Amino acid sequence: MTNFTPTIGSVPAQPTQPIPYKLAPMDRGLIPQIAALERACFSVPWTEEMLTEELESMNSTCIVAVTEDREVLGYAGITVVLDEGYINNIAVARKYRRMGLGSDLLGVFLRFAKAQNLAFLTLEVRDTNLAARALYHKFGFEEVGRRKIRKEGNAQ
Ligand SMILES: CC(C)(COP(=O)(O)OP(=O)(O)OC[C@H]1O[C@@H](n2cnc3c(N)ncnc32)[C@H](O)[C@@H]1OP(=O)(O)O)[C@@H](O)C(=O)NCCC(=O)NCCS
Repeated sequence: MTNFTPTIGSVPAQPTQPIPYKLAPMDRGLIPQIAALERACFSVPWTEEMLTEELESMNSTCIVAVTEDREVLGYAGITVVLDEGYINNIAVARKYRRMGLGSDLLGVFLRFAKAQNLAFLTLEVRDTNLAARALYHKFGFEEVGRRKIRKEGNAQ
């Protein structure tokens, strides 16, 4: 399921030069960088093996915000089962946050959900993850339930 149309954007580099990036489906060569981003962001990160499984899955896809010289700035993953979409992860490298990348990545899935008439798009987020909750709230996500998790649970 990798038929997303790549889109482009740019984020400001220091001090003023914008860094152009495109949103494109994950490819094998980007997996080590994405795994590194996972490790930097999450206490229970997805491994290179798990990301490779996503790449090979018929139901899942990952979108990457990547520069021309193939630096990964952020990524997000979705699984679709019948008409239900599950956003597995979204992460932006720390130095590129608050520049609209998370919104761009999420926007791809929102447009996809609309185009494919998905019944819903869902995700899980920790109560304490204020940045992610603010991002989801901005895009109209609403809380529908709370899950009790053990300390090593994977919701971020
Ligand atoms: C959550 C995350 C992906 C947001 O990415 P981002 O590129 O910084 O998001 P954007 O720049 O598109 O921000 C969009 C909106 O989200 C909200 N937001 C993002 N970061 C925020 C923060 N630190 N505090 C408050 N609101 C925040 C704001 O409403 C923002 O809109 P605004 O800039 O107009 O105020 C990023 O913080 C991240 O990678 N966090 C670590 C990984 C993670 O926790 N992922 C979520 C797992 S559920």
